[in-house]
Amino acid sequence: MAFPVADRFKRLPPYLFAEIDKKKKAALAAGHDVINLGIGDPDTPTPKVIIDALTQGAADAATHQYALDNGDPVFRKQISAFMQKRFGLEMDAETEIYPTIGSKEALANFTFAFVNPGEIALVPEPCYPVYRGATYFAGGVPLYMDLKAENDFFPDFDAIDPRDAARAKVLWLNYPNSPTGKLATKAFFEQAVAFCKKHGIILAQDAAYTEMYFDAKAISVFEIPGAKDVAIEFHSCSKTFSMTGWRVGWACGNKELIAGLGRMKSNVDSGIFTAVQRAATVALQHYDEIVPPLMGMYKKRRDTFCNGLRAFGWNVRPPEGTFYTWIPIPKGYTSSQVTMKLLEEAHIVTVPGNGFGAPGEGYIRATLTVPEDRLALAVERIKKLKW
Ligand SMILES: Cc1ncc(COP(=O)(O)O)c(C=O)c1O
Repeated sequence: MAFPVADRFKRLPPYLFAEIDKKKKAALAAGHDVINLGIGDPDTPTPKVIIDALTQGAADAATHQYALDNGDPVFRKQISAFMQKRFGLEMDAETEIYPTIGSKEALANFTFAFVNPGEIALVPEPCYPVYRGATYFAGGVPLYMDLKAENDFFPDFDAIDPRDAARAKVLWLNYPNSPTGKLATKAFFEQAVAFCKKHGIILAQDAAYTEMYFDAKAISVFEIPGAKDVAIEFHSCSKTFSMTGWRVGWACGNKELIAGLGRMKSNVDSGIFTAVQRAATVALQHYDEIVPPLMGMYKKRRDTFCNGLRAFGWNVRPPEGTFYTWIPIPKGYTSSQVTMKLLEEAHIVTVPGNGFGAPGEGYIRATLTVPEDRLALAVERIKKLKW
């Protein structure tokens, strides 16, 4: 008997990483010292104060039942206070904030809540694949906006055909941007809000990396007056507090958009373990002790890696935010070829840029999630390669 999966999977682009996974396993099996710059997952453990809060919460029987509705009110109030302190924003804890199981499910569930079959989602490329995948699953049509170095990795709204804009339901943005490491400027977010208002489009901003910035502070789209008329923003505790496995974040913004997301979620999940919500509350309360030292660590890694590569002519722009480096590759090679060469000859795992969408061809992505000495070693190995 055969049980083929639903046809919706056929619309997804092919999985580009299978060959890399195979080669990585082979290098490890052969005993090579593999430096993994492939995954976007912090290598430092979750801070103890957060773990202690989870342990305490787990011991309290009051956390053991379904965490229904729109989450723990104490967590929502803490998020509201955080949005005020960090960005100077007023967010109503009851109607404008919704705790989520990390941001990934929220990006997908939001799409199911708002995108009808045949409707367009404007999706930046290269990008985190969920905007594209969820649009396909919802029966929507992704329309891509290229993020190019010459446009500072911002989409060009003037290049969007007004007929497409008229059919679009949602515009996806992600700043600080994965994989390019670019921060949004106020002027860019102003343009995006104006574009969405003009065409009656939802602005969905993936803010998973807003707390990962190096020099200038990353901003929220809600710092733009009137953004709440059209926008929703997705935040995450994952990278900020080294909590990727915990699955906790929040959406905030326009009440109607928050209510729609909540309606979808109440049909597919039953909330976040209350002890995890309590631990995330403690994480936000301890932000000032936890986050600046972590970002100091990533900054040193960034400088070691990017300055190291630049010293022998690899023209990488140090990221302004996130822990990704977006590296233009040597001429005459494809992204996949460079990824393979790094893996086979230097035992370094990276990701080919085209894995994030066609405009990523010509780049590889390397993540700063190994200690500084390992990044220095990676630089030494890359320096020795012959092209
Ligand atoms: C751009 C971007 N958005 C969202 C996520 C999802 O993160 P989480 O679901 O852990 O919050 C990731 C994870 O790597 C990401 O890179």
